[in-house]
Amino acid sequence: MNVAYAINRENVYADRFRQDVLNGLKSNPKKLDAKYFYDKTGDAYFQQIMDMPEYYLTDCELDIFKNQTADMAAMIQQSETPFDLIELGAGDARKSTFLLRHLAAQTADFTYMPIDISENILQILANNLKKELPEGSIIPLAGEYFDMLEKAYALSTNRKVVLFLGSNIGNMELDEAEQFCIQLRRKLSKGDIVLMGFDLKKNPHTILKAYNDPPGITAKFNLNILSRINNELGANFNLAKFEHYQTYDPVTGACRSFLISLTNQQVKLDETTFSFAEHEYIQVEVSQKFTTQDIQLLASRAGFQPLAVLNDTKGWFVDVIWQVDNKMEAKWKK
Ligand code: AVJ
Repeated sequence: MNVAYAINRENVYADRFRQDVLNGLKSNPKKLDAKYFYDKTGDAYFQQIMDMPEYYLTDCELDIFKNQTADMAAMIQQSETPFDLIELGAGDARKSTFLLRHLAAQTADFTYMPIDISENILQILANNLKKELPEGSIIPLAGEYFDMLEKAYALSTNRKVVLFLGSNIGNMELDEAEQFCIQLRRKLSKGDIVLMGFDLKKNPHTILKAYNDPPGITAKFNLNILSRINNELGANFNLAKFEHYQTYDPVTGACRSFLISLTNQQVKLDETTFSFAEHEYIQVEVSQKFTTQDIQLLASRAGFQPLAVLNDTKGWFVDVIWQVDNKMEAKWKK
């Protein structure tokens, strides 16, 4: 088990965290990046979220990964050549495990490279997968998506299959998501494959409830980012003076979380004092919802050829399989 990469990026990362938080709180409106949810406590909250009945996304995608595994595996293995199976934002890999198990049973020649910003969750993942995958066939990479993608390239020249599940792409604004896909496409080579999960637009009540659950786990998950800033950066947020607020806009498909200041208050971080007015909000997370047309457009704009659209039984979620488009090669070559 190789987790060496997981350990040596901590210092750079802590500086980036501090800088991002300072910049976010200095901007107007104030914002914090949802990628910083995932410390040990945040990881545990997210696992609880995935277990909640209201959070349908995981169940829908599990349905796809449990029942359409063979089709998925066949498309990934189109060519019989060895490949690197890279998962962006792997988390505990509870969905991809079904695919991994299937590939392992077929003795497919691949290396699994889970990438996640949380080193903690990668340790949990590596532990869980010990029994599933042959020794040495998993290389966890802790860090930012594209930094770690570089690392994956440095480690191997095999063809790439990239998993980006859970509608993680929804955590980007739409224009960022497009830039992300373009960047990903440029990084990959002809014939490489992407398998991406998208949460679809549906009854707004259903969506809002997934992020505004009655037990309040999502609220704790959001507020935890303030504890993390206190613990790791030495700020003095009083969590009792902030409240989680969630919206879903059926027009844009954006489901957004905010932290609302309940009073006039000041918070100190390093030498800077931040003032919050009563009712002022911090913008935290977007979880974008898509139509199938949005997804098609994204594929074509980024230069991917759609190979398959896999639906769950309810028709609430899709996993799409895209291939780097041979015909687009000339257009995108630099
Ligand atoms: C892990 C980014 C897919 O946006 O649905 C769950 C995170 N936030 N509940 C999502 C999340 C609030 C989740 N993703």
